[in-house]
Amino acid sequence: MLPRSLVFGLGAALLLPLAPPARAQDAVAGQKVFHQVCAICHDVAQGRNRIGPSLFDIVGRKTGQVAGFHYSAANKKAELTWDAATLDKYLTNPRAVVPGTTMTYAGLKDAHKRADLIAYLGTLK
Ligand code: HEC
Repeated sequence: MLPRSLVFGLGAALLLPLAPPARAQDAVAGQKVFHQVCAICHDVAQGRNRIGPSLFDIVGRKTGQVAGFHYSAANKKAELTWDAATLDKYLTNPRAVVPGTTMTYAGLKDAHKRADLIAYLGTLK
């Protein structure tokens, strides 16, 4: 017979692989977030502007570059580059990063959802 403690120890070791892995950014989950909260105003197809500009190729682009979209002066003059860090701050609270923006979205407070969403935006090339 094996000692009880050893049996329990083995049991715990076998359960370990079921623990969630360190969470990686997940573009597939981010696409769902996009459809839940952004798609009402934004399309991801190149050149297709809605209430907001197309978000095709947004990551790495400068503010206010989509042709044919009428940006607010605030967004146009923001002179920011939409890298992951800037997007993270902006999507937390758009008006804190671009005061006067006409993007009437309060912000996505869940950091995991933001990371997933930004991973998804990075696939729009
Ligand atoms: C209620 C409509 C609305 C929602 C919801 C919305 N946006 Fe916007 N978004 C806009 C508008 C309008 C602008 C243009 C703002 C301006 O010109 O001041 C904009 C601008 C942006 C910009 C800047 C684009 C550029 O070319 O400079 C990004 C990035 C952006 N939105 C991402 C998102 C993401 C990601 C979501 C989902 C979390 C989202 N938006 C939700 C309406 C919206």
